[in-house]
Amino acid sequence: MTRKILVTSALPYANGAIHLGHLVEYIQTDIWTRFQKMRGHECWYVCADDTHGTPIMLRAEKEGITPEQLIARVHEEHSRDFAGFHVAFDNYYTTHSEETRHYSEDIFGKLKAAGLIEIRSIEQYYDPVKQMFLPDRFIKGECPKCGAKDQYGDACESCGAAYAPTDLKNPYSAVSGAEPVLKSSDHYFFRLSDPRCQAFLREWTQRGGRLQSEAANKLQEWLGAPDENKLTDWDISRDAPYFGFEIPGAPGKFFYVWLDAPIGYMGSFKNFCTKKGLDFDEFWGKDSKAELYHFIGKDILYFHALFWPAELEHAGYRTPTNVFAHGFLTVDGAKMSKSRGTFITAESYLTQGLNPEWLRYYFAAKLNGSMEDLDLSLEDFTQRVNSDLIGKYINIASRAAGFIAKRFDGKLQREHVIARFRAELPGLLEAADEIAGHYEMRDYARGLRSVMALADRVNQYVDRNQPWQLAKQEGQDAKLHEVCTLLINAFRLLTIYLKPVLPKLAQRAEEFLNVAPLHWRDAEYLLPPAHPINPYEHLMQRIDVKQIDALIAANRESLEPTAAPAAVSPAPTSEPHSPQRHAQHQQAIIPPPQPSPAGGEGVSGGAFAPVIGIDDFSKVDLRIARIVDAQHVAGADKLIRLSLDIGEGDGKTRTVFAGIKAAYDPATLVGRLTVMVANLAPRKMKFGLSEGMVLAASDADGKSPGIFLLSPDSGAQPGMRVK
Ligand code: MSP
Ligand code: ZN
Repeated sequence: MTRKILVTSALPYANGAIHLGHLVEYIQTDIWTRFQKMRGHECWYVCADDTHGTPIMLRAEKEGITPEQLIARVHEEHSRDFAGFHVAFDNYYTTHSEETRHYSEDIFGKLKAAGLIEIRSIEQYYDPVKQMFLPDRFIKGECPKCGAKDQYGDACESCGAAYAPTDLKNPYSAVSGAEPVLKSSDHYFFRLSDPRCQAFLREWTQRGGRLQSEAANKLQEWLGAPDENKLTDWDISRDAPYFGFEIPGAPGKFFYVWLDAPIGYMGSFKNFCTKKGLDFDEFWGKDSKAELYHFIGKDILYFHALFWPAELEHAGYRTPTNVFAHGFLTVDGAKMSKSRGTFITAESYLTQGLNPEWLRYYFAAKLNGSMEDLDLSLEDFTQRVNSDLIGKYINIASRAAGFIAKRFDGKLQREHVIARFRAELPGLLEAADEIAGHYEMRDYARGLRSVMALADRVNQYVDRNQPWQLAKQEGQDAKLHEVCTLLINAFRLLTIYLKPVLPKLAQRAEEFLNVAPLHWRDAEYLLPPAHPINPYEHLMQRIDVKQIDALIAANRESLEPTAAPAAVSPAPTSEPHSPQRHAQHQQAIIPPPQPSPAGGEGVSGGAFAPVIGIDDFSKVDLRIARIVDAQHVAGADKLIRLSLDIGEGDGKTRTVFAGIKAAYDPATLVGRLTVMVANLAPRKMKFGLSEGMVLAASDADGKSPGIFLLSPDSGAQPGMRVK
């Protein structure tokens, strides 16, 4: 029976680069859809950029372009990166589209008609300088619990506490640095607390063991006991200025990005239907018989398993058949980190010349269909790809191909070999259903273990028969021909089983085998007698450890030009994932603060430097500098770009990249005086030329309790010498 299947991956934000963490999801989904297509099902895979929201609006503003220009550029970059990893969407669209606007308005209108939308006035922090309401992630201040400085408005990264932005002490706007004020405004709410939503969700989430067990447990926790109602209404509007869709009949009010993001799945598919002549309602209509699956990360389960089905149900659409959540990627056991060089972008992986199918294979070997986190151990990565893919699989072809070409005119044996094949390589033909079952259940790890166990058997057959010895012996031609014929057939079957994971390699193998694109059912038989194959060209290189070292080096962020590295917090580039509090729904474990290595009380500046004379000291030209401009540096975790006036006249300024982002917001620095080393040789950095450094105090390791930029006493003027 041919199934009709629509598959999505979460829509990546249009304000950041695709990195290896994202790829866990897109590769997982791509393998599944390729598998379904190989099985002969009608399966469509759609996705889009998630383009709306405050971070995207502000980022475009900072870059001096329109949000439309920003999202167009990022769309190109994302499309390029996905193609580079052979992620084959049937449609890769954008949420900033007429289709998505249409369904957003449609769903909103239907929910309103059903009495599930309510307008309520709420008080929120407002930036009086920038004249905008501030999302939680754009408000910073001191943690109400532990007092840590510069914490976001939703949760403390130091002690893990979750709170409301109004709980922060000494709050300030991360946009302008101004102290935010409370201001009220009307917001639209989706009434998730309505008994209809509750009843529906209880039933939907428990129906037929649909959800992964970890996900079902989480939902149980969110829904509470049957007599409780733990669901709270969801704020789905934002005030101007906002980049998004204006709510019909509500000037100045916009749909919150998370309202239109999942609707973007529909928008992308609608756009595809128009191009392809498919019937949208067959997939999204209330009575649709098609299957609908969303692949997502565990951090956005709340949106996909509560809000989304509730919205669809009450707006008269079908609900998802299932939601498949995966865990988060760590590299060598730790969160991806820019300073360690493990925050690896898709682009850098490819430009460093690494083979995307190595990563596809490695991720597949680790993905088991659960919500567990997944570790990319760089040593294991190298070892596993080299030993499994090259050592076990590719070698089968390379060992047999030469003899077929040189000794047998490029053709397989004339006799039927099926009986010999079954006798010598039992299980190889028979494994197709079992392996298919693992792919279907998204347990690629098990599927690949089975495939590699089969490859081991084939290699044992090689060792038993030693074709290179047969080739030297008189009268063994027929035997050699048979061994090589069996090996080529074995290689073909393994290629079928690996094809969802290694599509490019499979394509090259098909050329070598001289066969049409392989489908799953092609594993039911062997190649015909005397089948001609093509000359073998090496199908895949081994990983060289040096390539991994170079990749890490290329992604490591340089900190050299300025004083001290500091404990770094990520820039507020993305909307919070959770509807209320980020920390509440994300099972991120926040490590306790590290004790200072100096121990004891106070801080340590480390050992003192050797004594120098006044001559040495006066070689250093220190000047008072006025910070004329301060900007975030795109892609830099720790750096702020400073433009400094040191009294050189004509509006001339010096550029310095300072590693102080963890301690300061650029906007609060503008206008301040500090001290600059004016005669330091300029240094070329990844982000541009740094023409000196500014002075800052910190602990020896720069970690605690922070970084303190030096300031002169009042009255000092830019350009004055500091002696
Ligand atoms: N825009 C939202 C999704 C809207 S879906 C209607 C979003 N975007 S994202 O760019 O932050 O993430 C996209 C997907 O990548 C999410 O499913 C997220 O869980 C996943 N991942 C992002 N970083 C990840 C890791 N480090 N590891 C594994 N998956 C990760 O969320
Ligand atoms: Zn805290």
